[in-house]
Amino acid sequence: MSYQALARKYRPQSFADTIGQETAVRTLQNAIEDHRIHHAYLFSGVRGIGKTTIARILAKALNCVRGPAAEPCNECVICREITEGIDMDVREIDAATYTGVDNVRELRDVTQFQPARDRYRIFIIDEAHMLSVASWNALLKLIEEPPPHVVFMFATTEMQKVPATILSRVQKHLLRKITLEELIQRLGRICETEGITADREALEIVARRGEGSVRDALSLLDQVIAFSGRNVTAADVAIVLGLSDTTFFARLLALIGEGDHAAILEALQEAADSGRDFKMLFRDLLGFTRNLLLVAGGANEAMLSASPEDLEVIRETSKQFSYSELLRIANLLLRDDETVNRAEHQRLAVEIALLKAATFPRLRAVEEALSGGAAPEAPKPKPAAAPPRSSKPATEPSSLIDKVTKARPLIGSYLANASMRSDGNKITFTFTDSFAADAVRDARAAIEPIVREVYGDAAQLEIEVQQDQKAAKEQQSSLRDDPVVNAFRKHLGGEVVESRKR
Ligand SMILES: Nc1ncnc2c1ncn2[C@@H]1O[C@H](COP(=O)(O)OP(=O)(O)OP(=O)(O)O)[C@@H](O)[C@H]1O
Ligand SMILES: [Mg+2]
Ligand SMILES: [Zn+2]
Repeated sequence: MSYQALARKYRPQSFADTIGQETAVRTLQNAIEDHRIHHAYLFSGVRGIGKTTIARILAKALNCVRGPAAEPCNECVICREITEGIDMDVREIDAATYTGVDNVRELRDVTQFQPARDRYRIFIIDEAHMLSVASWNALLKLIEEPPPHVVFMFATTEMQKVPATILSRVQKHLLRKITLEELIQRLGRICETEGITADREALEIVARRGEGSVRDALSLLDQVIAFSGRNVTAADVAIVLGLSDTTFFARLLALIGEGDHAAILEALQEAADSGRDFKMLFRDLLGFTRNLLLVAGGANEAMLSASPEDLEVIRETSKQFSYSELLRIANLLLRDDETVNRAEHQRLAVEIALLKAATFPRLRAVEEALSGGAAPEAPKPKPAAAPPRSSKPATEPSSLIDKVTKARPLIGSYLANASMRSDGNKITFTFTDSFAADAVRDARAAIEPIVREVYGDAAQLEIEVQQDQKAAKEQQSSLRDDPVVNAFRKHLGGEVVESRKR
């Protein structure tokens, strides 16, 4: 026998076999038992969660020789024919290919006749949001005065595109996404039936990638089984599903840290080969960098909305950098976001942005040479949860920082690492890193309303940069005059942000 896709092979044939849609199922079953049969139903929700499946089971439950019953028997000729899709009284219409008003007129003619054999003449209209306005209008008449023995079942992923006049006349069932745990269990049971061993971790990755859709999870499982046969491991899954974005970004960040220009260009070549959109790639890389900053700053990991395996990669990567290194990289990337967005040659823009970011280690090497010793250690990260504070602020500064972090995560993490004091109405943040100070200044318009919200209408935001020592300042000015450093600045648009004396 030829291979049958798991999603088809395991399409539930009874309500009891569906997962995750208990509310809809119970409502439908109760109504059948109470003989309250509606003439129009609408099932909505994202792809692959049971809309078509439940409509078909309902059609069987209504028409079953032993029905209408809360479950179809799946044995009588009617149940069997509906399952096979050959019952003359149960028609499935794909609105995506059936949009003309003429077809709806034809539908009206058909509804005039009594069912050929079954109890109800049932029309399952899939992808209903694709119907034209004219089709909806024709249908509306049918739904307003339903011919006896006719039942309509609409399925759609986009309920907002269904006209309100229709919505108010159908019984609506909003099907929900399937939870991770439900998906894992379903996948586990199907593997068992298929005689396939799969470890829980493997199933969890597949389920997670399914993003709430049973069909998507099952097609991924198909791919994994095709690759690994009867014994599925997490490692197989990782290979088949391709290295995750997170792994790719971790690699890019590591290369930026190492200043390995050639390898960065190679990685971007791979991305181009696999058809990636560079604008999206850059956005996602920024998101990844933000997550690194949050983790390095000790933020609550729930804020990251990352999966456990991604979180592990994020933690590992953030350990390779000091907080201020991450700040600088993030800042550089952020500065190029606009450029990349507007660029005509997006790949080129991304390449240049990453090479710029990757030049930092080189700059540090210059510093090192000038200070005549090994590279100075970047300051230890200060946990965002407990930012250093000076004098007694009127309100907990963390509430301000939380609010800013919600609106602007990167800016929030900068503030969390600055020291803060309040002096009358003046709220002053002192940065040791002028990059961070600049970024916060740029975001002033967004932050000031929050400052006023937390500290009152008269509150004023001050931003200042304080060098660690006078000596650092002196050394910095000598660095600014240094020809090597200036050459870097000229070529790369960088600037000397800090220098440290050993
Ligand atoms: N709630 C569910 N319980 C069990 N299996 C399900 C469920 N939903 C979907 N499936 C699986 O996914 C397959 C596709 O489901 P179905 O056609 O009902 O999805 P749908 O919601 O209509 O999606 P689409 O919007 O893409 O049409 C089924 O054959 C079945 O294997
Ligand atoms: Mg469907
Ligand atoms: Zn039956």
